[in-house]
Amino acid sequence: MIKANITVDKDYTFSAIDPRVYGGFAEHLGRHIYTGIYEPGHPMADEQGWRTDVIDLVKALQMPIIRYPGGNFVSGYNWEDGVGPKADRPRRLEMAWGVTETNEVGTNEFMDWAKKVGTEPMMAVNLGTRGPANAQNLVEYCNHPGGSKYSDLRKSHGYADPHNVKVWCLGNEMDGPWQMGAKTAYEYGRIANESAKLMKWTDSRIETILCGSSARSMPSFGKWEWESLHECYDNVDYVSLHTYYANREKDFGSFFAEPDNMSDFIAETAALCDAVKAAKKSKKTINLSFDEWNVWYHSGDWNQNGERWDDVRPQLEDIYDMADVLVVGGMLLSMLEHADRLKIGCIAQIVNVIAPIMTVPGGGAWRQSTYWPLMHASVYGRGTALRAVVDAPLYDAKSRERVPTIKQQAVLSEDGSELTLFVINREPSGEQCELTLDLRSFGKLSPLSHTVIANPDMNAVNSLENPNNVAPSDVTLGQPDGGKLNVTLAGRSWNVIRFKLG
Ligand code: AHR
Repeated sequence: MIKANITVDKDYTFSAIDPRVYGGFAEHLGRHIYTGIYEPGHPMADEQGWRTDVIDLVKALQMPIIRYPGGNFVSGYNWEDGVGPKADRPRRLEMAWGVTETNEVGTNEFMDWAKKVGTEPMMAVNLGTRGPANAQNLVEYCNHPGGSKYSDLRKSHGYADPHNVKVWCLGNEMDGPWQMGAKTAYEYGRIANESAKLMKWTDSRIETILCGSSARSMPSFGKWEWESLHECYDNVDYVSLHTYYANREKDFGSFFAEPDNMSDFIAETAALCDAVKAAKKSKKTINLSFDEWNVWYHSGDWNQNGERWDDVRPQLEDIYDMADVLVVGGMLLSMLEHADRLKIGCIAQIVNVIAPIMTVPGGGAWRQSTYWPLMHASVYGRGTALRAVVDAPLYDAKSRERVPTIKQQAVLSEDGSELTLFVINREPSGEQCELTLDLRSFGKLSPLSHTVIANPDMNAVNSLENPNNVAPSDVTLGQPDGGKLNVTLAGRSWNVIRFKLG
């Protein structure tokens, strides 16, 4: 048993949390779109072919924003292929993932689905094989009310009202050699600037996201942000970050510590943005969009399933376990630690492809283990983030030294009536924790709930047949005495502890 203390003071708020940090990402990849969210003929499909069982599972995550259509896919995408009568849409060889794209689902269908799941679309433009003109045309198609070539084309496709897409990604991972049309930082900064300029001239309300390095481990990380941002500072609003973690060696201490490396990555990227701000003597602050993050390694080689140029291939179908709950939960808390700069987050991805939701073609849908921390954070992690003082034992791991065994984040609800503490006990060997909470500054507190995810088997997973093997359960939360309370945290557990204030 380890011992730890967390002290939270009501006056130590540091930032409002932008709800968009609980966003998602839907790419034309594997079975995300086809047989994931869209499966005409499925018993649960609606009149448009959307799986309503999946819509319900996505809705419960309350994702305020979803990025589309890629990812690597977008760097070869002709958006015109995916609009207009379905019978006229071309079948294209898709270079990023080696499939044939049927284009049955495109921009307008995605907007319809986004409405059904209650989210705001976040679109990416192709700056790999295409450039500023096509990007501008797409903004015109989506956002211009009418009376121009592309806005009238949208109307002729049955969409009289503009989609009013606010947030636009300027390409995807443009530094990666795997990317169609990969670029140097200077080349990319220039094309991003010229594209963003035309896109904003078309609709001045939009916000744009510059691709940062595709990972912190890229040799050019830092230099890439510095150089590309120099070329387009005034026309971009966010810089993107992407990261995926793995536990190939089953080294839990290292794996559980990775979210703290993510936290450093966020701080470093904010510093890089501020360095360019200083160099340019600008008054404008660039914020951050962590628009791809997750655990990704279980499924191995993405290319192994199905045949090249199949219409649909199962790809990146990671099955998540109990250990992943602690890392996905930890990554969410690392984003909240930087709520003052990190305004958008998109778990990559949502359905079937490194995803919290899985489907069986023609069959059921189920929640992976990682669905739960995502849902808890999205539902209870809205409002204002607070800094806490944590006193907990530290451990050393290969991925990082002096890792606190307890990772936490406190959130005051939007109306100020509830306090939520997200607490992870990540002591690697599985010790329980006797935690003392000191919440004296909040005055009167009543316990609301203590929800736990803890399965002693770190390899435990969910499946269609056994969907609740890794799932939340409620334990009793005691009454604080003079604002102090002792709570026992299960070994290697995710905890959501909630109080009513006043
Ligand atoms: O999310 C899967 C892929 O990972 C995305 O297409 C790409 O942007 C990243 O490399």
